[in-house]
Amino acid sequence: MTAILFLNGPNLNLLGTRQPEVYGHTTLGDIEQMCRAHAAPKDVRIGFEQSNHEGALIDAIHAARDQYDGIVLNAGAYTHSSVALMDAITSAAVPTIELHLSNVHAREEFRHHSYIARVAVGVICGFGAHGYVLALDAILAHLARRG
Ligand code: DQA
Repeated sequence: MTAILFLNGPNLNLLGTRQPEVYGHTTLGDIEQMCRAHAAPKDVRIGFEQSNHEGALIDAIHAARDQYDGIVLNAGAYTHSSVALMDAITSAAVPTIELHLSNVHAREEFRHHSYIARVAVGVICGFGAHGYVLALDAILAHLARRG
């Protein structure tokens, strides 16, 4: 069975109440349920994790090597700053999609640069919570293409 890890970075535990004008009213728990509901008929196993700590995210990426076929990563602000997370993705060699709720390219200049994008299969941003479902379909299609 294909297994996909959704990995969420700093401040995403506050979704629902955090800047709802930017990130919407959907909580991370709601998003997890959406992903599980979308995955169920596809016979895909889902892992769903969140951490505010860079090292814990790196550990989760390393652990994914033995447990998951793909990763959907919303690294939050670490996207724009973390060479260590980029190196973790390269080292683990698990196909990874970069995801953001907001359209980072329509926001502040410092959000336009991503260390993750350099090593990601692709990037999805700007579709709010629905982006998680889009990312699941995208990583599954990528894995199917690879065979
Ligand atoms: C975010 C975008 C990042 O720039 C920001 O730091 C976040 C959330 C998003 O999902 O839109 O924490 O990753």
